Amino acid sequence: MKTRITELFGIEHPIIQGGMHYVGFAEMAAAVSNAGGLGIITGLTQKTAGDLANEIARCRDMTDKPFGVNLTFLPTLNPPDYPAYVKAIIEGGIKVVETAGRNPEPVLPALKDAGIRVIHKCTSVRHSLKAQSIGCDAVSVDGFECGGHPGEDDVPNMILLPRAADELEIPFVSSGGMADGRSLVASLAMGADGMNMGTRFIATKEAPVHDNVKAAIVAASELDTRLVMRPLRNTERVLSNAAVERLLEKEKELGASLKFEDIIEEVAGVYPRIMTEGDMDAGAWSCGMVVGLINDIPTCKELIDRIMSEAEQIIRQRLEGALAETVAAA
Ligand SMILES: Cc1cc2nc3c(=O)[nH]c(=O)nc-3n(C[C@H](O)[C@H](O)[C@H](O)COP(=O)(O)O)c2cc1C
Repeated sequence: MKTRITELFGIEHPIIQGGMHYVGFAEMAAAVSNAGGLGIITGLTQKTAGDLANEIARCRDMTDKPFGVNLTFLPTLNPPDYPAYVKAIIEGGIKVVETAGRNPEPVLPALKDAGIRVIHKCTSVRHSLKAQSIGCDAVSVDGFECGGHPGEDDVPNMILLPRAADELEIPFVSSGGMADGRSLVASLAMGADGMNMGTRFIATKEAPVHDNVKAAIVAASELDTRLVMRPLRNTERVLSNAAVERLLEKEKELGASLKFEDIIEEVAGVYPRIMTEGDMDAGAWSCGMVVGLINDIPTCKELIDRIMSEAEQIIRQRLEGALAETVAAA
């Protein structure tokens, strides 16, 4: 399948693995890229720019295919040294950067000068248009279903994607709720040039996370995610667990007076305990509604090959077939 996204990033299949905190290590990115998609290392999971440089080098040892780095700009009191991370990305020879969280304008000149393609993750049409206007090469349009931060507009992809298609000139991929060949064909039908997946890639053999995390994803249904931190306007979709229920109780009790300090125990520094140690009640961790569609733990290659053959089958048989029957009946 050839789309503007496969052409832009030099990849075989129009499938991207979105940056994921404590999941997007070299093993994850290399497995996706080796399977013909675009794997992405999560920049800020690496504690220093030097660590990121090592992670990029490790990934390069595992694949000769293109892979990217995610740079997330989230509200924080002590911002990381972004210029140093950008330098590690450029010196590491990375050709694709996925930005997210805030306007990436401050880092764009350095990335563009180095010939790096930038795909910015947006949860609204207005942010997508802004990304286009400041010179991003593509956007990842992240609907309300998504794992992680869906923004505050609550527009699901069935509306958001065609809206984006109506307004954008640069290529975009769908993100949020994507799992299989049906997701890919639907995304293409709504005007996207490919799709980005987060949660689905965690339940793969190569994902470098504890087996408990994969088992929790397989066991969960589409009813098991919750939105937390809405009162802080930093909404995050997470998998329900004991810590999340406690957090939601605090939100209910404190209402508009809720502060980040009130929920710090449930959200700060919990990722290593969940993803590495498998302590599934340690805190709130991002997870999409798409868990309802995830029932197995394939390799990344099995997953991507299955998506591509299912997509082809839907296009050639189900869609073409529907058209042929209409014609025959007429
Ligand atoms: C465990 C987890 C951690 C994530 N961490 C980040 C992150 O650090 N930066 C980022 O831009 N997006 C992050 N995301 C969002 C994903 O890149 C992607 O946009 C999202 O998962 C898409 O929705 P889906 O889970 O329905 O596929 C994370 C998602 C998950 C599930």
